[in-house]
Amino acid sequence: MSPLPAPATGGEGHWTDLNQDSIVLGLLLEYADDYVSGSVLCDKLDVPRAELLKRIDSLRTRGYGIQASGGRGYKLVEVPDRLVESVIAPLLSTNELGRRIHGYAELESTNEEAHRLAEAGAEHGEVVIAETQTKGRGRRGRSWISPPGKALTLSVILRPSLPSARAPEMNIVAAVAACEAAQELGAQGARIKWPNDIECRGLKLAGLLSEMRGDMDHIYHLILGIGFNLTLTAHDFPEGVRGTSLLLESGERTPRPVACARVLEHLEEWLALHETEGFGPVRDRWRELSSTLGRRVRVIGVPPPPGSGTSDTPQLLEGEAVDLAEDGALVVRGPGVDLVRVVAADVEHCAVL
Ligand code: BTN
Repeated sequence: MSPLPAPATGGEGHWTDLNQDSIVLGLLLEYADDYVSGSVLCDKLDVPRAELLKRIDSLRTRGYGIQASGGRGYKLVEVPDRLVESVIAPLLSTNELGRRIHGYAELESTNEEAHRLAEAGAEHGEVVIAETQTKGRGRRGRSWISPPGKALTLSVILRPSLPSARAPEMNIVAAVAACEAAQELGAQGARIKWPNDIECRGLKLAGLLSEMRGDMDHIYHLILGIGFNLTLTAHDFPEGVRGTSLLLESGERTPRPVACARVLEHLEEWLALHETEGFGPVRDRWRELSSTLGRRVRVIGVPPPPGSGTSDTPQLLEGEAVDLAEDGALVVRGPGVDLVRVVAADVEHCAVL
């Protein structure tokens, strides 16, 4: 495990400078696609022009692209593509999520490290992020592979005040948040395949893996892992994986810290709504964003009917996905059978004829 180096320290003046840098950065971000005039920046910072120029130079040295135009002022055109707290934090408008970010060059799995930190007392909202994973985990025991520098691989430590039985709702909350973030970042066609795959045109854009530690009654902590394909192109996907990326969907290269910030913001928003209003609004939004409802689906791994004994062979069911139940289960109408609730299984969309 190799943590990314912390920024070099250089005494109190250094921190004041960094602080001023982030105020300038905050103002430039606020104006987003617009120029902000030098005099507005000087007024807000309460510094003379020479000091402002120093801060602009300092930000440029730290990798920020700032365009200057005589008469119009300054505009932020590029942020450094580094997944570290000092770059992500100024881009974030959350209150709780990502207020502390543990950045690593390499981890076996961000979910694994997040569990370790949570067990050592990490707080709700702390984030673990890695440039690359050597044993990334996917759903149902699969592995998750993403080439370094081309994806987001992060885990969020959550401590929801929910009984354990309601943990599956968090998968749905996360799916809604990730799908909205994907759309905001330019993947207009992003939809949710049950329970929480984010897909575009039937190709996987992002995957979510939530892992709970708790007892029968309480969730001690829940780790929400997100793997989001950002700049992968066709040859980056392992054989047999039908994937896509934000670059392929939007035609644009979104800096990873920006993508990270948008995902955390949407997640915080939906977690807050879930906490105050319950699962209803989340379920409604999931239905709107779903690519599964109304589709013919093949479900692999449906639990066998009681009394039929266990089997190693996956149980199969084909039918129409008709609804998302109040607890996050998928409701499927099979041929000549009653409605079946699918809680933990793989779902494939059957081809539309
Ligand atoms: C899936 O199978 O679709 C879920 C994939 C989840 C991958 C992410 S990457 C960050 C986090 N750490 C892991 O080991 N897995 C999740």
